[in-house]
Amino acid sequence: MANYDLLNKQLTSLLANETNTIANFANASALVNQTVDRLNWVGFYLYDRRQKQLKLGPFQGQVACMHIKLGDGVCGQAAQKQQTMVVDDVSQFPGYISCDAAAQSELVIPMITPDGDLFGVFDLDAPVKNRFNSQLVDLLEETAQIISKSID
Ligand code: SME
Repeated sequence: MANYDLLNKQLTSLLANETNTIANFANASALVNQTVDRLNWVGFYLYDRRQKQLKLGPFQGQVACMHIKLGDGVCGQAAQKQQTMVVDDVSQFPGYISCDAAAQSELVIPMITPDGDLFGVFDLDAPVKNRFNSQLVDLLEETAQIISKSID
C-alpha cells in the first residue's frame, strides 16, 4: 500500500483550483488509474434524478454501458442503497452488468453531495478476483470523499 500513500494528497492538490465537476472527475479518474495497479476501468456514473438512472461520466478504460437503472447491477445497487459495494468475483453477483469481459472484481462507492444528495457512483473494475481488500477500499472511500467535495 505504501506506493498509494500520496494518492489522496495529490488528488487534493489536483482539484484545489477547479470547480468544474467534469474536469475534476476526468482528472480524478486519470490519477487513480495511473496510481493504482491492476485496474481495467475507473470512472463515474452520474445520477439523472428525473430518469432515475445512472449515466456514464468521465472514465479511463474501455467503452462502457451508458445507462444503468437505479437498482440494476453493482452500480445501480450501490446508488440505490447509498452503500459501498465490494464484489470479489463478478461472476457470482446476480444481475451483474458486464461492460468489459476483462473485469473480475469490482468496487462501487456512492458519491454524495455536500447537501447529502446522490450525485452518482465511483466505479472501479479489476482484471483479477479479490482486488479490493479493506485497506484499498478505505483509501478509495477517502478518494471518493475528496472528489465529492469538488462537486460544484
Ligand atoms: N459492472 C457494472 C457496470 C459498469 S462497468 O463495470 C463499467 C455494474 O454491474 O453495475
